[in-house]
Amino acid sequence: MQIRELVREDIRNLVPYEPHPFSDVIKLDANENPYPFPEEVIREIFSGLTGNVFTRYPDPLGEELRTEIGDMAGVSSSNVVLGNGSDELIQLILQTFGGPGKRVVIPVPTFSMYKIHGQITGTQAIEVPRTEDFGLNEPALMAEMKNPATRVTFIAAPNNPTGNSVPAQQVGRLVKEVQSLVVVDEAYIDFGGETCLPLIKEFSNLIILRTFSKVGMAGLRIGYLLAHSDVTRELLKVKQPYNTDAFSQVAARVVLKKWALFRRQIEKIVAERERLEVELGKIPGVTVFPSKANFILFKVPRPADEVHRQVLDRGVLIRKNLGNTHGLEQCLRVTVGTRQENDVFLEKIKEVLSS
Ligand SMILES: Cc1ncc(COP(=O)(O)O)c(C=O)c1O
Repeated sequence: MQIRELVREDIRNLVPYEPHPFSDVIKLDANENPYPFPEEVIREIFSGLTGNVFTRYPDPLGEELRTEIGDMAGVSSSNVVLGNGSDELIQLILQTFGGPGKRVVIPVPTFSMYKIHGQITGTQAIEVPRTEDFGLNEPALMAEMKNPATRVTFIAAPNNPTGNSVPAQQVGRLVKEVQSLVVVDEAYIDFGGETCLPLIKEFSNLIILRTFSKVGMAGLRIGYLLAHSDVTRELLKVKQPYNTDAFSQVAARVVLKKWALFRRQIEKIVAERERLEVELGKIPGVTVFPSKANFILFKVPRPADEVHRQVLDRGVLIRKNLGNTHGLEQCLRVTVGTRQENDVFLEKIKEVLSS
């Protein structure tokens, strides 16, 4: 029997997410926090565990964590939905509001999962090219957002992989004009850019998507969204009951409580980003795109694949395959590491580009 023939035709050609098979490399490819998870936080997480954390099903809504996130954001817990990473919430939004005959609008280049979850949920993805400096092409975007079949638009701010953000005022203009949902994905907001959070009080069709991954909890998979209760109510009908586990809920609560420790790491990452931008920009032939995130997009004067491989051969893993528009074929993305990691990266990329 050909199992492949049984698969839904519209997802038959999807490619499984590629694991990172490299060990013993400096890992600057996945926009993670390079600093160790603070011992003090680990101790407090473990001291907060009761026997029940492992034996009983978790609280399906994660009410304590939801409340604490709501307090931090100045909204009620009913405006918060937790996800198994924000990736799961992207899928949940499209499962709830998308589907066959519906459209999702995506300004590109951007994070690839919006389109992939569009395909998985049978939602047609409409890609709207960004402007040359990676800003939103407002008239073109607005036209697609106003199409009656459009249900959702995803705007990443700061955007992955380009690193630029979007003014909240511009988002406000778009959200106000359309009859569909606008998701502002603020996965990198702790590193810079203007938040659109205050706008959720004004617009019931705005969703703010966030994650604990980039500040140091990528392994525990907690993302969340903030939106009007008319939106969260619908999403909760579709959400898997136990999508976030009890251990990760406890861990995220301690991370929020000890936020000052993470804030210090974030400040170091931002300072290193600025240094890395300057140093990369000094390399002949390299173009650096200004970033508000914890990574930097840069263009190289040689085929990006080849540069990627040669940097990897020297022990540093960065990110390639960023898209085939806007000249991104010639671009690579490096996550900001520790000072030592960044120094090794700079040394290796200079060596590769001068050879
Ligand atoms: C813009 C953006 N959104 C969401 C995610 C997903 O993050 P997570 O599922 O770890 O919360 C990423 C991860 O790279 C991202 O770049």
